[in-house]
Amino acid sequence: MAERKNFVLKGNICYSEDIHLLRTVEQGYLVCLEGKTEGVYKELPEQFKALPLTDWGDMLIIPGLVDLHIHAPQFSFRGLNMDLELLDWLNTNTFPEEAKYKDLDYAKKAYQIFADTMKKSATTRACIFATIHRPATELLMDLMEETGLKTMVGKVNMDRNSPDYYCEKSPKESERDTIEWLGSVMSKYDNVTPILTPRFIPCCTDELMERLSRIQKKYRIPVQSHLSENKSEIHWVKELCPTSRFYGDAYDQFGLFGKPAKTVMAHCVYSTHEEIDLMEEQGVFIAHCPQSNTNLSSGIAPVRTYLERKMNIGLGTDVAGGSGESIFRAMVDAVSVSKLRWRLLDESLRPVTMGEAFYMGTLGGGAFFGKVGSFLKGYEFDALILDDSSLPHPQPLSLKERLERFIYLSDDRHIKGKFTEGSRIF
Ligand code: GUN
Ligand code: FE
Repeated sequence: MAERKNFVLKGNICYSEDIHLLRTVEQGYLVCLEGKTEGVYKELPEQFKALPLTDWGDMLIIPGLVDLHIHAPQFSFRGLNMDLELLDWLNTNTFPEEAKYKDLDYAKKAYQIFADTMKKSATTRACIFATIHRPATELLMDLMEETGLKTMVGKVNMDRNSPDYYCEKSPKESERDTIEWLGSVMSKYDNVTPILTPRFIPCCTDELMERLSRIQKKYRIPVQSHLSENKSEIHWVKELCPTSRFYGDAYDQFGLFGKPAKTVMAHCVYSTHEEIDLMEEQGVFIAHCPQSNTNLSSGIAPVRTYLERKMNIGLGTDVAGGSGESIFRAMVDAVSVSKLRWRLLDESLRPVTMGEAFYMGTLGGGAFFGKVGSFLKGYEFDALILDDSSLPHPQPLSLKERLERFIYLSDDRHIKGKFTEGSRIF
């Protein structure tokens, strides 16, 4: 669709100004200038009256959603084989499937389905894991570029503890492939940027981590990985890294755990006090993936603790640990699992509210991308137009109620428009 970066949208506008404040404006005006939000107004100021205006009637307008953690090659087996825990699930389902992406024909078919689905979804930003294969990772980046979504995509690094058919041959080879990949993609795209992706400590030797650390410093790219997801995994990390004080320290020893490297860690279900302190100190982003943590019987992350400490936190689907790409569903699951955690495990940690879940799925995760995830002035203009007219109600509802119902009850078919940085995706 044509670029049209200066315009006004009229409709029912809902967005988080911060974690405590969900602002709603009925029949308001949302002004986009040069791809950024200029403001939200009850009456359209004179100086914007000449801009093209689209009136979305009674629909809702919200910021685009942010998925801080998703595996593109696992999209092909989402919703399948959910009866294992993490380490068996990786060996039985994940590694055999990811190995197939060596074949570019297979990768093209599978990644096209992923890209098409993401385009139609409510997600406007995502941090994406690919596989160890450079050609397929570049293909995925090409396809994501075409969607118009703003994504970070990582070629996975792993050189131990996986089957021979899906393991890089040496730290050197992994480093070489990564540097060649970066050489090819660093400034190739408008919408896609690379992110360094050591799979997780059990799959990365110290020598590989050392080499990746050097790459991170040289190219100054962000980092994504997994942290404290599952008890067997954490136990294994202790065995593999006897000198590390806790799991996160095994990343930190190589400077791959937050400041100065912008880092997002998925899960953080069992993070210790020390680990949480370090994450807070170094601004590590947490990708909370409640559906995956349920499907893989991993546990329930202490999100209330992270929110109270004002840590950086957003939501992830973690497909195929999570069975779908919907961040609306992740919001619902974040609320639901927090209630179970509260009731069954620790009544001192209040459940997550829908307002907080909405914040995590927009502004909380958006901060990993910069000024993203809100309609505050100067934020990049990512927006969704939502039609809830097929969800009738016998009484009038407030905008906040309509938004909550939409999150619980809707699907992609109710999304009537989608924008990133002021460009219309559909
Ligand atoms: N830890 C290492 N690899 C993976 C993965 O692919 N999914 C999840 N959920 N955890 C992991
Ligand atoms: Fe994951």
